[in-house]
Amino acid sequence: MNWQQQRVLVTGGTRGIGRELVIGLRARGAKVWATGQSATSVQQAQAALPEVVWSVCELHRPASLDAVVEVVRREGITMLIHNAGVQQLRDFTSATAAESLTEHDEVQINLVAPIVLSRAVLPALRERPGAALVFITSGLALAPKQSSPVYCATKAGLRSFAKALRGQMKVHGWPVRVVEALPPIVDTDMTRGRGVRKLPAPAAAKQILDGLAAGRDEIYVGASRLLKAILRLSPALGESIMIKR
Ligand SMILES: NC(=O)c1ccc[n+]([C@@H]2O[C@H](COP(=O)([O-])OP(=O)(O)OC[C@H]3O[C@@H](n4cnc5c(N)ncnc54)[C@H](OP(=O)(O)O)[C@@H]3O)[C@@H](O)[C@H]2O)c1
Repeated sequence: MNWQQQRVLVTGGTRGIGRELVIGLRARGAKVWATGQSATSVQQAQAALPEVVWSVCELHRPASLDAVVEVVRREGITMLIHNAGVQQLRDFTSATAAESLTEHDEVQINLVAPIVLSRAVLPALRERPGAALVFITSGLALAPKQSSPVYCATKAGLRSFAKALRGQMKVHGWPVRVVEALPPIVDTDMTRGRGVRKLPAPAAAKQILDGLAAGRDEIYVGASRLLKAILRLSPALGESIMIKR
């Protein structure tokens, strides 16, 4: 892959895996656009990484999606990385919901927004050599954990969408790569205060970018590779390991 010719838009580039993707893409010579949901977060990212074109995008608001589509069309974006995501621990046995985001918003941000954005940008991407849509799902798309049922459902749904879309591109001969990256638990704000043996975010981003450069359709990051192997040998064992978390 010739990164110098890539014009990449990363959603959720202000923190965590997205921020490391932005840094890695710049180091490889790509031109980068990135979004965050809060103005403060975007201002901080802009100060730290001024060579990136930053904008605020709230994926749960339809008008924000229009702005992202406009950037893709206007700026000749060749690769859209659907990275932004949220995860809420949810206890469906509790009478009162203590989470800060509704189930609807979690589904909107993690699943609906990438689907709607993909449809809107595909006609433009089709015309651009080396174009790609990249979906950051999760090892939890392969087997869910009990503590985040809605999150797991969105990631499994996004994985299924990416697979179907890849098939559709092949059937219709559209030259747009559809890539899925499946990180394991990564050390970011999303997992602060929980989990063990977390993969550092720079290592996760490097594996994703290396996988993209190697032309892979599915990029199993870190321990997700092991999970895939266990699920192949014994789906029951793999699912029982994951569900307790
Ligand atoms: N961390 C893990 O263990 C792990 C494992 C597997 C997969 N993943 C996936 O990897 C991706 C990145 O995760 P992360 O851990 O790096 O997350 P993170 O550190 O929590 O960062 C989340 C990013 O998404 C943005 N964002 C949050 N809510 C948004 C909204 N409503 N609209 C638009 N942008 C929003 C944030 O912007 P602000 O800075 O403005 O808030 C931030 O840039 C997610 O899709 C996640 O599901 C993570």
